[in-house]
Amino acid sequence: MAAPANLTRDSGVQFASDVRAGLCKEGQKVLPSKYLYDPLGFTLFEAISRLPEYGLTRADERLLRRHAQEIVRHVPSPALVSELGSGSGRKTRWILSALCEREPVSYYPIEISRAALASCQSELGDIECVSIVGVEREYLDGLREVAALRADGVCLLVLFLGSTIGNFDVGADARFLSDVRRVLAPGDSLLLGVDLLKPRERMLEAYDDPLGVTAAFNLNLLGRINRELDADFDLRQFEHVARFNDAARSIEMHLRSKRRQVVNVRRGAFAVTFGEGETIWTESSHKYTQAEIAELAVSCGFRTEAQWVDDEWPFAENLWLAV
Ligand code: AVJ
Repeated sequence: MAAPANLTRDSGVQFASDVRAGLCKEGQKVLPSKYLYDPLGFTLFEAISRLPEYGLTRADERLLRRHAQEIVRHVPSPALVSELGSGSGRKTRWILSALCEREPVSYYPIEISRAALASCQSELGDIECVSIVGVEREYLDGLREVAALRADGVCLLVLFLGSTIGNFDVGADARFLSDVRRVLAPGDSLLLGVDLLKPRERMLEAYDDPLGVTAAFNLNLLGRINRELDADFDLRQFEHVARFNDAARSIEMHLRSKRRQVVNVRRGAFAVTFGEGETIWTESSHKYTQAEIAELAVSCGFRTEAQWVDDEWPFAENLWLAV
């Protein structure tokens, strides 16, 4: 069997310098959430998406499955499809199949997780008349590359599902979507999945499940640093914390040091001291209001073409048109 066609780039050096910058900085220690997804982290997220308390992924997939025909009716033909952070690719099947009913489709998932790209190939490889080219890049670099490949008269459909947009820092979501818009041409579309604000208890349960899968997902980031950067984090001396930040309307995940301790990161050539109770902030997951989504579209250079909202788990699928 031929190796899947992939556009690849090695990012190990970047990981070491990001970890160093985040752990050595004054004040709140941080680690970028994108590093949660090594092969084990990717698998743990797959497990999270099946937890009864975590309805986000199921809501997203339900909307895509139920409304795929209608969604693609809004997309000009012929279209080239690219996805920012495809994950396993499972949710994307419905859109690709619906598009396939009218024309052969080229699909470019953009992912820094090689495990995700591999899963995408095996999950979606069976759909006839879809050709898949994985792009192992950061989102915007990958998207620029894909946009440069399109022939005249071909529209881009960009998928950004799963409310990954919620993981950006305050204000960075709008900057990112404006950057995406600048890569697009008028008439291109963006399908954006957004998790909506819901009762506090429901949100907290989703990020602090009783099985401890989210805790394992979070702690694995320290395991990854041990494996890839030859560090000596004792995972038993840290604990998972999920809290809701009311001002930011975001769930925050932290890893809290149970005691004072020193950790060596040998491949980063640094050591870091943790005080008892000190935390590393590993992820924010912003929860949007409807008004906020509408405003985001306009301020980033889009017009809302249509929206679909799940009735079990407040989540919105938004189809935006580049204006
Ligand atoms: C993959 C971005 C949808 O923010 O809900 C799940 C990741 N983190 N549990 C989210 C996540 C903790 C997640 N997304």
